[in-house]
Amino acid sequence: MKLIDEYLKKIEKELQSEGRKIKAEEVGLVTEVKDGIVILEGLDDVSYGELIQFEQKKIGFVIDIEEFTVGAVVLGDYLSIKSGDKATALGYTLSIPVSEAILGRVVDSLGNPQDSSVKIAAKEFYPVEKVAPGVVRRIPVSLPIQTGIKAIDALIPIGRGQRELIIGDRVTGKTTLAIDTILNQKNENVICIYCAIGQKNSKVAAIIDLLKKYGALEYTILLNASASESAAMQYLAPYSATAIGEYFMDKGKDVLVIYDDLTKHAWAYREISLILRRPAGREAYPGDIFYLHSRLLERACRLNKKYGGGSLTALPIIETLEGDLSSYIPTNVISITDGQIYLETDLFNAGVRPAINVGLSVSRVGTNAQTKAIKSVSGKLKLDLAQYREMAAFSQFESELDEETKKFLNRGARITQILKQKKNQPYSLAFEVAIIWAASNGYLDELPLDKVESFETKLLSDLKMRGKSLVQRINKNKIIEKKDEEDLKKFVTENLGV
Ligand SMILES: Nc1ncnc2c1ncn2[C@@H]1O[C@H](COP(=O)(O)OP(=O)(O)O)[C@@H](O)[C@H]1O
Ligand SMILES: [Mg+2]
Repeated sequence: MKLIDEYLKKIEKELQSEGRKIKAEEVGLVTEVKDGIVILEGLDDVSYGELIQFEQKKIGFVIDIEEFTVGAVVLGDYLSIKSGDKATALGYTLSIPVSEAILGRVVDSLGNPQDSSVKIAAKEFYPVEKVAPGVVRRIPVSLPIQTGIKAIDALIPIGRGQRELIIGDRVTGKTTLAIDTILNQKNENVICIYCAIGQKNSKVAAIIDLLKKYGALEYTILLNASASESAAMQYLAPYSATAIGEYFMDKGKDVLVIYDDLTKHAWAYREISLILRRPAGREAYPGDIFYLHSRLLERACRLNKKYGGGSLTALPIIETLEGDLSSYIPTNVISITDGQIYLETDLFNAGVRPAINVGLSVSRVGTNAQTKAIKSVSGKLKLDLAQYREMAAFSQFESELDEETKKFLNRGARITQILKQKKNQPYSLAFEVAIIWAASNGYLDELPLDKVESFETKLLSDLKMRGKSLVQRINKNKIIEKKDEEDLKKFVTENLGV
């Protein structure tokens, strides 16, 4: 043994003295190619996630390690790869370039620009897969992400560092809810990342236009792995988006990441797993599908001061079929997240938009993070709504209702009315507080139901015109003091025409 080592050293020395650079490389052979997945032999020392370079400079990464073979996913076009090709293990895992220059850009899962040919100038690379920060580096969620959507901020508040699922059938306003939340971060110093997985390019283009129109693209990054891209790119997308988020979080920033949607992400992974001939489980998903999403969402957190105090808030979206929350992927993601916002087709069609089912939606940590101002008006609102739901169900059978019940039904109907909100119109904190204050203090009880909307419009425009100082005070102090309450009362009663 010693002799061999000595000889090797001697040869190495001689080679180097001739001015040659030597580098050890692990080279394998392609034995099978199928739908973007490549099976290789001879790569005995690779690790999971390691990059592989094929002969034509194509890149892939290891996703499956068997006794004698290795499975890799090809990134991009795989048609030119044939069996018998050489493949070299590069010795490092997949990383994407990150820098401030990525803000306002549209990129693919590898960080390549899609909006123009200008490359993103970056000195740093962040690994796509990363172990989530441990408990010691985290602190509890205690600051809110203001969504600007009345129903959410009042009833299902979201905290910075939280994971809140948006779930519902197709066309129930899931994407709209998420995009409105981005629009509302304009002056909140939050970096937003919208990760589109398996969506139509036309839809993504519409979202880019919308963000541009509202001046929201400058603090947003769009990561697009559309339906036309390979399963590998769709599979990678949310991890890459999180890596970009982590870059900003490590700089002490607050980051909001939207994964639209994880159902299609699970499909992409199922496709890859089936091609790899992994045993299929429930709904033909592989056994590790739970781990797929938990290792992703666990990366959402709020770091403590020592690590910069940044946060990463995750809003994953799941699309259900006919409202079925108990199918495989929805139940998985519900159990991983800290709560869910459940959107319903029936409500959406009945004109309750955003179509949030308040009874089935929860936020397990957000209430700790609510601002004092919202907390002071939403406590009563929740109670009123819960009673309303209970009574509304029973009152269908009763013809004669007592006064008390009628009062609750009346109040509930008005609250439902004020929780409606047009799309792309997030409210500032003061506006949310003003309208909810009016409803929960009974000022709207006498108002005919069809007049509630016009009252709201009137109140808000009046506040914009004459109530600047009140609005500024509430937005800044995030609390309602005695004087603010008196002012609110004045504005509300005047606009009611009492
Ligand atoms: N609050 C709202 N008010 C009015 N229209 C809305 C509202 N939310 C969503 N919509 C409309 O409903 C349609 C579906 O919304 P979208 O967010 O794309 O649903 P999903 O992502 O659940 O499929 C879109 O045309 C959108 O403009
Ligand atoms: Mg959508």
